[in-house]
Amino acid sequence: MPPHRAPVGPFPEGADPESYDRLRRRVLWSMPAGIYLLGSVAGERRNLMTCNWVTQVATAPKLVAAAVESGAYTAGLVRDGGVFCVSLLAREDRALARRFAKPAADDRPARTLNGVAYLDAPVTGAPLAAAALAWLDCRVVAEHDLGSHCLFLGEVVDAGAPEGEGPLAVLRMEDTRMSYGG
Ligand SMILES: Cc1cc2nc3c(=O)[nH]c(=O)nc-3n(C[C@H](O)[C@H](O)[C@H](O)COP(=O)(O)O)c2cc1C
Repeated sequence: MPPHRAPVGPFPEGADPESYDRLRRRVLWSMPAGIYLLGSVAGERRNLMTCNWVTQVATAPKLVAAAVESGAYTAGLVRDGGVFCVSLLAREDRALARRFAKPAADDRPARTLNGVAYLDAPVTGAPLAAAALAWLDCRVVAEHDLGSHCLFLGEVVDAGAPEGEGPLAVLRMEDTRMSYGG
């Protein structure tokens, strides 16, 4: 059991904090979301991190936002390296998302993180999962401290996808039994 955390306010007037917290979490967990691997690199330090708070936030320039726990290894790497690469996974690859919930061991000669093959993104050098269905390579243009998380805004400097048209069938939170945040 995770340690009980006191519900975070503000609370509507007259609401019971515990039951309001449950209701609010249910709604937050119901927001449709993707699930990605966020690749980061700073010098010889690399990581892939399971991350679902990633989304496009502007069209010109093309900006993608990623919210990363302030204490996460990844937050330091993105800050120091100034880049990140988002791997979009195939729907059947949900097991991959389970493997990157703590800092990954990098075997650089074998090009594996936690035993999972990765490539260096061509422009930034950030790791991207070799099994990724598609990817977005980003250079950080701004960072905001949100308290529990840091928000990194990245400009898309390169992207990859299989040949063809139309949206790709990528892994989403609803394909897993996992939840995050709330
Ligand atoms: C389904 C799922 C989604 C997650 N989404 C995020 C996220 O959006 N942002 C984040 O900072 N951590 C997220 N995490 C937690 C990180 O994967 C985890 O805290 C990791 O240990 C921190 O990364 P690190 O390896 O850089 O320390 C998620 C975990 C899971 C299981």
